[in-house]
Amino acid sequence: MDKPAKFYITTPIYYVNAHPHIGHTYTTVVCDAIARRQRMMGMDTYFLTGTDEHGQKIERSATAAGCSPKEFVDKIAAEYRELWDRMKLSYDDFIRTTEPRHIRGAQALFTRLQERGYIYKGSYSGQYCVFDELYVDAVGAGAPCPECGRPTETVQEENYFFKLSAMEDRLLKLYAEQPDFIRPETRRNEVVAFVRSGLRDLSVSRTTFKWGIPVPGDPKHVIYVWLDALANYITAIGFGSDKEKDKKKFERYWPADVHMIGKEIVRFHCVYWPAFLLAAELPLPKSIVAHGWLLFEESKMSKSRGNVVRSETILDTLGADTLRYFLLREIVFGSDGSFSFDALVQRFNADLANGLGNLSSRTLSMITRYFDGEVPYPSTAQERTADDRAIAELGDQTIRDFHAQFEQFQFSRALETAWGLVSAVNKYIVDNEPWTLAEKPGQDARARLGTVLYTSAEALRIVTALAQPIIPESTARIWQQLGLGEISKLDLRELKWGQLQIGTKLGTVEAVFPRADKSTIERMQQMEQERSSVSESKAPAAEAEAAGTGAEAGQRATEAVADPSAAVPPDKTAKAAPVVPASGADKISIDDFLKVELRVGEVKVAEKVKGADKLLRLEVDIGTEVRQIVAGIAKAYDPEKLIGRKVVIVANLQPRKLRGLESQGMIVAASLGDEGLPVLAGFLEDVPVGAKLK
Ligand code: MSP
Repeated sequence: MDKPAKFYITTPIYYVNAHPHIGHTYTTVVCDAIARRQRMMGMDTYFLTGTDEHGQKIERSATAAGCSPKEFVDKIAAEYRELWDRMKLSYDDFIRTTEPRHIRGAQALFTRLQERGYIYKGSYSGQYCVFDELYVDAVGAGAPCPECGRPTETVQEENYFFKLSAMEDRLLKLYAEQPDFIRPETRRNEVVAFVRSGLRDLSVSRTTFKWGIPVPGDPKHVIYVWLDALANYITAIGFGSDKEKDKKKFERYWPADVHMIGKEIVRFHCVYWPAFLLAAELPLPKSIVAHGWLLFEESKMSKSRGNVVRSETILDTLGADTLRYFLLREIVFGSDGSFSFDALVQRFNADLANGLGNLSSRTLSMITRYFDGEVPYPSTAQERTADDRAIAELGDQTIRDFHAQFEQFQFSRALETAWGLVSAVNKYIVDNEPWTLAEKPGQDARARLGTVLYTSAEALRIVTALAQPIIPESTARIWQQLGLGEISKLDLRELKWGQLQIGTKLGTVEAVFPRADKSTIERMQQMEQERSSVSESKAPAAEAEAAGTGAEAGQRATEAVADPSAAVPPDKTAKAAPVVPASGADKISIDDFLKVELRVGEVKVAEKVKGADKLLRLEVDIGTEVRQIVAGIAKAYDPEKLIGRKVVIVANLQPRKLRGLESQGMIVAASLGDEGLPVLAGFLEDVPVGAKLK
C-alpha cells in the first residue's frame, strides 16, 4: 500500500519573554484545527510548535528577573507547553531553540551558507533596536525605531553578513511563479513591493550579547536571532543531524506545507527565510500564510500594551472548545478581529449552547425516550417529505462547502456553513413537532416520527464530524452519545449523508454545553483582574518590565523609573488599553498625589557604578541641594550625555542603599516595551532647576 501523502504545518515559535496570551493561542489553535482536519483526511500530518529562546531581549529580561537566562527560558517554555496541553493542542513536536538538536542544526545551516559563499565578515555601526532585534535606519542615540517606535541603541560591531542583496531577482521570480507562496494576496503584494525597493545585505551575527548560538568556528559571535529562530522549522525534523532516522524524517517532511504566522512577521518569513533556503540550496516551503491580529479594546493584544487576556481564564470557565470555536468563528481569517468577554459568551450561548447543544440534546433524548435509545428507521425515499429531502440535500451541500471553505482558510465561513445546517435542523424539528407525533396513535405517525428523528440525528452526525477539528472535546462527547465510538477514527473524506446505521445504540445522553450567563462574564473579568494584580505584585520573571532598567538582580526598576504604567505605548497610534479599568478603590486622592514631591533637577555628575552594568551614579542639583541618585538607566544612557540634562526627581523618597551607595531620590522615566527601557521625563520649554511639579 502506498504511504499516505504528508502534510507539515508549523506555528511561529513563541518568544519566552512574555507569558502566553490568547493572541498566541489564536495562531496555535488555527494550526491545530488544520492539522486535525488533515489527519482526518488521511494525511500523514506533522504539526510543529515551540519556543524562541535566544537574544538580548531574553538575556535582559532574565537579568531583570534575577535569574540566569536558562532558568528564565525554562520557566516560560514550560508555561507554553502546559497551556498547549490544557488546550488539547495536537502538536507532534515542541522545539526549543536552546535544545542541542536545534543548536546543531542552526550551526549546520550557518556553515552551509558560508560554504556556498553567502556569508562574509564586515562591520556595522549605527542604531539597533533590541525589541525587534534589528539594525535600523535611524540616526542618533536613542532615536526611535522605525518599526516599533522604541528607543534604539547605538552599536558598533564586527558582524557576519548574509548576501541578501544577491537574492532580489530570485525572490521576485519565486513570488511571480508561485502566487500561493504568500497568502493572503495583500501580504504578497506588500512583500513584492518591499523586495522591489531593493535589499541590503543582512547582518547575521552579534557580538554585543552572549545568549545565543555561537557562530561555528568563531564563538565570539552568536547567530542572529531570526536566522536562529527560522531554522527551527528544519532542525525540528532532523536537519543537521547525522542519524539516519533524522535524515529520513527531514526527507519525509521537508518542505513544510504551511508556515502559519502573524502579519507582523511576514518579512522575516517571506523574504529572509526563502533567501536563506535558496542560498543553502534547500527546498522552499509551499506556502506562508499570514493571519491578522487579535485586538482587545481596539489595539493589538500584547504584553507591552498591557491589554492581554489569558487563555487560562476562558479554559477555567467556558472550556477550551469555546475559545477555539470563538477564535475560528468570530475572526475573519487574515483580518484583525476583536476579543471581548461579551462576544465570547454571546457566541457560546447562540452557537454552542442553543445551537449545536440544543440540537444534540433534544434529538438524542427523544430517540432515547421514543425508540429506546436506538436510531430509528427513516421512511422510504418515496415517502419522504420535501422537508426531509431538503435537509438531506443540505447535509451533502454542507459537507462540500465546508471543505472548500476550510481549504481556503475561510474558517469563519466554513463554521457558518456548518451552523447553517444546525439552524435548519433545529427549525425542521420545530416545524415537524416530533413530540406531537409521538402522542399520535397509528403506524403512520410512528413512521413519521422515525424519519424526523433519523434525519435530525444524521444532520447532527454530519455537523459533529465537520466540527471535530475545531471543537475536538465536545464533538468527541456528542459522537459517543450518538453511539459511534471514537471520533478520531472517522475518515472525513468518506463523510456523506445517510451513513448513520439504523439500530445504532446511543450512549448516555447529557448536556454538552450548559448555558452561560452574565455572571460568567463577571467571573472571567474578575479572574483577569486578580491574575494581573498577582503578576504585578509578584513580578514573576517574564512580567518584570524592569528588564534593562532594574537596578539590581531581582529588584524592580523603581529606583530608576516611574511606575511601569507610565510607559507610553510603543505604537504611537495605539491606545494603551488596560484589561480592566481601574476601580474606584485603586484611585488616589489629590492629597495623596501632593504628598509626592516632584522637582526639576539638573545632572551635574554621571558615572557608571562599578560591578553593576545597569546602574549610574548621578549628582543632581535640585535647587536647594545636590542629591546623589543611583539609577538603573545605564543600558539606555551614556553617562557623558546626561551631564547638564534637566530631569524630574522624586525628592521626598526615603533614602536607600544600592550597591553600597545611598540613593537620595528617584528619577522619573517612562518604561518602554517588554524590556521596560527607560526614557527620562523632560520638558520642551526651559524650566528652572528646583521648580516643583504638580
Ligand atoms: N519569536 C518570533 C517568531 C519566530 S518564528 C521563526 C515571534 N514571537 S512572538 O511570541 O512575539 O509572536 C509569535 C506569534 O504570536 C505571532 O506571529 C502571532 O502569530 C502571534 N500573536 C502574538 N500576539 C498576537 C495577537 N494579539 N493576535 C494574533 N496573533 C498574535 O514573533
